[in-house]
Formats: sequence, C-alpha cells, structure tokens
Amino acid sequence: MHLISRLRIVLTRIALKHLQFPVPLCLVGPDSALALCDTIAQAGIRRLLLITDGFLLQSGLLQPLQAQLLQHGVELEIFSDVEPDPGYELVLRGVEVMEHSQAEAVLAVGGGSSMDCAKAIVHTHANRCHPAKLTGLWLYALPRRHGLPLYAVPTTAGTGSEVTIAAVLSDKEAQTKKAIIDPKITPKMVALDARLTLNLPAFLTACTGMDALTHAIEASISTMATPETDQMARTACKLLLQHLPVAVTQGQQLQTRQQMLLASSLAGMAFTRAGVGYVHAFAHQLGALYQIPHGLANALLLPDVLELMLPACSRKLAALAENSGIGDAKMSAEQRSQCLIIHVRQLRCSLQIPSQIQQLCREDLPQIIRRAFAEAHGTYGVPRYLTYAEALQMLESLLPDRQQHQSEDRFSASSANSA
Ligand SMILES: [Fe+2]
Repeated sequence: MHLISRLRIVLTRIALKHLQFPVPLCLVGPDSALALCDTIAQAGIRRLLLITDGFLLQSGLLQPLQAQLLQHGVELEIFSDVEPDPGYELVLRGVEVMEHSQAEAVLAVGGGSSMDCAKAIVHTHANRCHPAKLTGLWLYALPRRHGLPLYAVPTTAGTGSEVTIAAVLSDKEAQTKKAIIDPKITPKMVALDARLTLNLPAFLTACTGMDALTHAIEASISTMATPETDQMARTACKLLLQHLPVAVTQGQQLQTRQQMLLASSLAGMAFTRAGVGYVHAFAHQLGALYQIPHGLANALLLPDVLELMLPACSRKLAALAENSGIGDAKMSAEQRSQCLIIHVRQLRCSLQIPSQIQQLCREDLPQIIRRAFAEAHGTYGVPRYLTYAEALQMLESLLPDRQQHQSEDRFSASSANSA
C-alpha cells in the first residue's frame, strides 16, 4: 500500500538534489522596504508595477514606499485588486494590467495572497498561457520563461511566500487549490521590514504566525528534509514559539515583529525545499470549500495531525522541542514530542484561536479526505500515511458541537435500534 506514493517521494528527493533553489537577497530591519525602493531605482528601473490589496493601499501604509520610488523618478502603475485566495481570473486581470503598464519590474507588497498573486501574474505574463497550465509539481522541468524581476515586501509574518518557489492559487470552479511550483517565480530581492507589520490586528498576527509555525514543523518532520532545512526549521520554530505570543499581545514591539518576519522567512526557506504535510493538505481543502483563512485552517489542524504523525517522527519532534526549550533531557523522545504538541495546543488556546471548525459539515468529510490524500500522497514527505478511518476520526473531532452531538444522537439511535 502507498508503494507508488513512496516511490514518487524517492524520485522527488533525487530530483530535488539537482534542483537549484534560488534564495532572494534579503534586506532585513526597520525601513528596509525604503532601502529596497532605492535598490530598485539604482537598478535602472523606471516603470514599476505595484501589486497589493485595496485595504493596504487605502490604509496609507504604502505611501512612504510610493514617495521614495517617485522621488527616484520611478513611475508606478498599481494593481490593488488582490483578494484572499487569488484565483485564475484575478491573475489574468493582473496580466492585462501588466501588459498595458509596460512595467520593467514588479513590486509585491502584502500578505501571502499578494505575493502569490504577483508571482503568478509575472509567470503567466512571461509564458503567455492560462495560469492553470502552469500549476503542477513537475512542470518546472519544462522550458518556462523567466518573468520580469520580482521584488517582495511581506506585511504579515506567515506564508514565507517571499522566499519560496511556490504560488498557491484557487481553482474557484473546482473548489480546490493548485500551486505553481517553479524556481523561476522566486522573488529576486526581499525586504523584511517590521515597521510594515506593526499594525497587523492580533487575530491576523496569531493565524499567520501559526501558518509559519506549521511550515517549520512540517518541514522538520518531512522525509524530504535535509540537514540545512532542519537547521532553518528548528531555528524558525524556536523563534516563533518565543515571539508569537508577544507579537499578538504587544503588536507594537518592533524587535518582536522583526524576529517574527525572520522566522517566517526561515520557515519558508525550509519548506520550499522539504515540503509541507497533511496539515497543509487538509487546510487547503478547508480554504477552498469554506474560505477558511489559510493560517486559521492550519492552526485548527496542527496539533491533531501531529498526534497522528508522532509514532513515525518522535525523534524529529523531540529535537524541535529540545531546541525550543520544551520538556527536559530525562524524557523519552515520545514524551518530549507530546510536550511539544501540548505546548502548541496551549499556544493556540492562548491566542484565542478556536479548536473547532464552525463551517465544517459532516457530509463534506469524505470529499475533504479524498482531496487531501490526493494532494499529500506522493507529493509531501509525510512521516507516515494516514488511513481513511484515522483522517475521518480527526476531522470529526473538529466538527462544531452541534454536529458532534447530532452524530452522538445518531449513534445512540442506531445502537438502540440494533440492540
Ligand atoms: Fe502555509
């Protein structure tokens, strides 16, 4: 069982050894976004397409960047239609704007949606095809064209998209998510500027931070991890566990926000090489079906999935716990892993993130499981393969109380009938 999936993972591991993962040049620190604007101008770029979302544009947060670019004589075209979970139609609209703008480069400013959308727009524009044709795991091997230089400034510490080779898009018609995976879409240069994340609301900080934590943990336990990705994932995990609670309760702490951005990018570099796992596979389905924000979906799933993975990755989880100062040396690997999982569960609770999915419907569970398995198996280096029954039991525990009670009632009724 799962022989083909295992074989595909082995082949992927071999292929990845020969794949170059570009690492963008990162400018780090408060006001580094302004320094990035200087660098763009110094590169001789005179027409720039700024890709962002409407809220961010109207908030005035980008005004210093716009002023800096204009001062250098860089003309700006703005595409600010980005919305959460960007789909193909949005990408095509962005491509149209890009064509008319005659831009020489692109600057993406925003959360994961803005960066993924910008990556997809640049790649679609360069390859003159529908974005759906660019999605898929092995397509980077095809002779795709390089797009315009892409610069990125994340305004959330979560997706790590500024350093990854992936752009996740929603296939709205099929109610699923697809990814463009290609080293050519990695941004050329990035600014990790904590000043731009200071006003991120507490709940958004919590959910995006849990996304970054999921990247770090899933990359760490992946069978495709390498010593380099392990190092990055462990550092990211430690930083996130330390700084996320402070970032949520004291959002104006500049140094904390800076550490969060660093951790998020490190986690991004780890998972772009080692991949993610079941948490993401299920979270993508919840996002596509119910529009549950990605970070929230990950936070809902993370502890339960880790419980199921533990028997096959206790040493990895224990190493994460040890590096983060959780548990003690007298504990077995299993005990220390359990401590980490309990810590993650408590963290989620302290961040006021719910532990049930209100939108989740019992009738959708088979479809969610089928699609999550299709995404994960043979693509992600999961430590062990879940059975359908295990996945069903896990999702049932996330059903809102009313449906759990309904199911108990149904169970009691059927037991009574059969008795
Ligand atoms: Fe993610």
